[in-house]
Amino acid sequence: MNGDFLKKLYHLEGKSVLITGAAGQIGRELCRAYLECGVRVFATDVDMNRMKERLGKLNNDTSPDMVFFEMDVSKKKSVIKTFDNIFSTYGQIEILINNAGVSCFEPFEDRPEESFDWVMDVNLKGTFFGIQSYVNLFDKYKMKKGAIVNIASFYGIISPDFRIYTDCNRKNSEIYGATKAGIIQMTKYFGVHLADRNIRVNAVSPGGIYNPDNPQGEDFIRNYSLRCPMKRMANDKELLGAIIYLSSDAASYTTGQNIIVDGGMSCW
Ligand SMILES: NC(=O)c1ccc[n+]([C@@H]2O[C@H](COP(=O)([O-])OP(=O)(O)OC[C@H]3O[C@@H](n4cnc5c(N)ncnc54)[C@H](O)[C@@H]3O)[C@@H](O)[C@H]2O)c1
Repeated sequence: MNGDFLKKLYHLEGKSVLITGAAGQIGRELCRAYLECGVRVFATDVDMNRMKERLGKLNNDTSPDMVFFEMDVSKKKSVIKTFDNIFSTYGQIEILINNAGVSCFEPFEDRPEESFDWVMDVNLKGTFFGIQSYVNLFDKYKMKKGAIVNIASFYGIISPDFRIYTDCNRKNSEIYGATKAGIIQMTKYFGVHLADRNIRVNAVSPGGIYNPDNPQGEDFIRNYSLRCPMKRMANDKELLGAIIYLSSDAASYTTGQNIIVDGGMSCW
C-alpha cells in the first residue's frame, strides 16, 4: 500500500461544498480545511460583514476558490434563493454542511418565547430548509451523488452538567439540546429516505470546544477538563477529520450516522 491509497480514499479535489454559519468558529476552520483539500467553497452566513472580516484572508483574490453569500438559514425564501443562485451560477454542489447554530442562555424560568423560537428556527428549521433546498436542486440538476453533514452537539445526547459552569454564564438551554437531538433524528430520517437518490446524510456532534477569541472561564475549563475522560476541551481543528471523512468517498457506505467528537464526555 502506498500514499496514493489514502489520497484516493479521501479525494475531494475539484468538488464543491456549501457551508452555513461559515463565519463562526467551526465554520472558518471548515472553510480553511476544504480550501486546502482543493474544494471550491460556497461560504454562507447571516452576517456578511463578519464573514468578509473573518474569512477574507483565506481567499486568493486573483482566483477566488471561495465565494461569500449572505443567507439566513431560518428563512426559507433566503435559503431557496441562495441555493438556486449558487447552483445556476456555479453548477452542482456535492457537499452540504449544515453548520449554522445558535443558543440562548437565560435561566429557563425566564426564557421568552422569542428565544425558544429563534433557536428552533435557526437550528432545526434551518437544517431542514438546507436539506430540502439541496435535494430539490439535486433532482433538478440530475445529480448522481451527494453528501450532507449536519452539525449537532453532544448536548443533543446528554444534558449539560451545570455544576461545572461555575464562572461561565453560557449554560446551555433545553431548546438547544432538543434541537440538536432533533438534528440527530432528522439525520437518520434523511439517511434512510435519501439513500435511493445516492445522497448520504450524517451528523457530527462536537463536545465543548475551546474558543481562543472568546475564552470560556478558567474555572469552567478546569472543571470541564476534570469531568472529561480526555481531560481537556477540544480545539476547533479536532472536528475536521470526522466531517471530511463523512463528506468523502471513504464514507461511501455510511449514512444516517452521528459521530460524537467529545473526548469521551458522553460515555460516562
Ligand atoms: N463551539 C462549540 O463548543 C460547539 C459544541 C457543540 C456544537 N457546536 C455546534 O457547531 C456549530 C458551529 O458552532 P460555532 O461554535 O462555530 O458557533 P459560532 O457562534 O462561532 O458560529 C455560528 C455562525 O452561525 C451564524 N448564524 C447565526 N444565525 C444564523 C442564521 N439564521 N443563518 C445563517 N447563519 C447564522 C453566525 O453568524 C455565526 O457566524 C453550531 O451548530 C453549534 O451548535 C458548537
